[in-house]
Amino acid sequence: MQQALSVSRQVAVIGSGVMGRGIAMVAAAAGHPVCLYDANGIASSQALEAIQQHWQRQADKGKLSAEALDRLCGRLSRAEALEQLAEAGLVIEAIAEDLAAKQALFCQLEQLVASDCLLASNTSSLSITAIAASMAAPQRLVGMHFFNPAPAMRLVEIVRGLATGADVLAQVSATARAWGKETVAVRSSPGFIVNRIARPFYLESLRCLQQGQADCATLDSLLQHSGGFRMGPFALMDLIGLDVNLAVHRSIWQAMCYDPRYTPLWIQQEMVAAGWLGRKSGRGYYVYPQAEPAVAEPLPAPCPDWVQVDFNLAQPVAAVLAQRLQQAGVRVTGQHQPQEDWLFRIGPAHVYVSDGRPAARREQAGQPCLLLDLAFDYQQVTLLAAQSSPSLSAAQRQALEAVLSVAGIRLCHLADGAGLPVLCTVAMLVNEAAEVLQQGLASAADIDRAMCLGLNYPQGPLAWGQRLGYGWLSQVLRHLAAYHGDGHYRVSACLQQAASVSSPVSFRAEEL
Ligand SMILES: NC(=O)c1ccc[n+]([C@@H]2O[C@H](COP(=O)([O-])OP(=O)(O)OC[C@H]3O[C@@H](n4cnc5c(N)ncnc54)[C@H](O)[C@@H]3O)[C@@H](O)[C@H]2O)c1
Repeated sequence: MQQALSVSRQVAVIGSGVMGRGIAMVAAAAGHPVCLYDANGIASSQALEAIQQHWQRQADKGKLSAEALDRLCGRLSRAEALEQLAEAGLVIEAIAEDLAAKQALFCQLEQLVASDCLLASNTSSLSITAIAASMAAPQRLVGMHFFNPAPAMRLVEIVRGLATGADVLAQVSATARAWGKETVAVRSSPGFIVNRIARPFYLESLRCLQQGQADCATLDSLLQHSGGFRMGPFALMDLIGLDVNLAVHRSIWQAMCYDPRYTPLWIQQEMVAAGWLGRKSGRGYYVYPQAEPAVAEPLPAPCPDWVQVDFNLAQPVAAVLAQRLQQAGVRVTGQHQPQEDWLFRIGPAHVYVSDGRPAARREQAGQPCLLLDLAFDYQQVTLLAAQSSPSLSAAQRQALEAVLSVAGIRLCHLADGAGLPVLCTVAMLVNEAAEVLQQGLASAADIDRAMCLGLNYPQGPLAWGQRLGYGWLSQVLRHLAAYHGDGHYRVSACLQQAASVSSPVSFRAEEL
């Protein structure tokens, strides 16, 4: 088994932006001398200063001793020229996401550094095979993909290009683990595991925003509070950098031969064209510094006429809602209608979990309806997106809303259309994960682990899909595809297969 790089060897980090800074901090904390280089000398000076200030703040808070602070600062230096990196034992490149620039840099580097120096790229989405192709010794290059912020995120994807040497791969993996990171192995392919599967996390909310269904703060709240994601997509894009995120979208889209599943949206291009790049430029989808978006408390609602509320306790979600009402001191009665998918009803007005069809199409024989979004955990959820069918009267909607409000759930009403934000996001995440699995790019366990560790997802997409039912999710995607008709929601063959052998078509959510 290959040993990790000795801590006496220097780690050179090229590119001192968001990622280069974080990676330099990780390597220095692991005990290596670290040298930062940036084509823009001012950027590397600023990076050095910012890192030292960060450590100083840690020391001021008592999280770092004065000696540890001195040791860390003493390990950090910057180079004015690439040639000064000749002594490095590992070079990690974190420059702009530009294939030609990365190719040119590694061709220069392999001439400059010692033959045992490891060469790694932190590219988010470019092919390691393509970056290495113009090198004299392409077997030297490996992908070492950190996540933002690098000191905090536990995952590093170790990416194997077609030519990457097994010994290089093993030593870089061992080094990342010695630095306290968990690694997953993946073949070089568009977006690797995490950035490929994560595309819908951004795209589904961007589609809602572009269609005027909801604003950024609302969508972020929904994905956080209903979906269980640590950050909403817009806050996360602002953290990543809108230019970097768009470059990743474009590169995956191009590498996938312009598959409509990955098409970037014009709104992303507008933001980048304006120079609104997120936190690093002081403005992105939010303006910085900003207060955290406030989440409103559930609205007080008039108490509905409980006698008329009828629960379908055969539906697991309905059973959970009924239980929440009971916990709020309300006596609930219901019936078991396993063949029917409504959750509860008041008179003719029915409540369902959305299955990707608009509420207008879900109305049955004069029965108006309200559709609820998917929640990661219906026992805990306090906010849900909802859509109403056209014939649901204001009084009916208010009565249904009041039931949920007593259970501690506030609704965020969106215009009727196909699907709701969390449902579309989760269905597409599972679809993409199934495709990555089918293509043999990584194991099922690594796919789920990577999404939880790299992006703090509340559950791996494959396990999440299994919990919801692959059959039900396939049906949701077919409904979305039929409505939009643009190929974006095409069901992965792997998901269809899994659906045909294992799952019922009804919404399952077994482990609520
Ligand atoms: N931002 C993220 O969340 C994130 C996460 C993982 C991976 N990445 C990847 O890491 C890389 C860097 O991303 P970032 O967000 O830190 O970018 P950034 O824009 O914050 O910083 C890039 C830095 O590279 C410097 N640079 C550009 N070309 C150079 C060259 N030829 N030689 C030396 N320096 C050069 C720039 O001056 C800049 O300081 C990209 O490949 C990106 O896809 C980004």
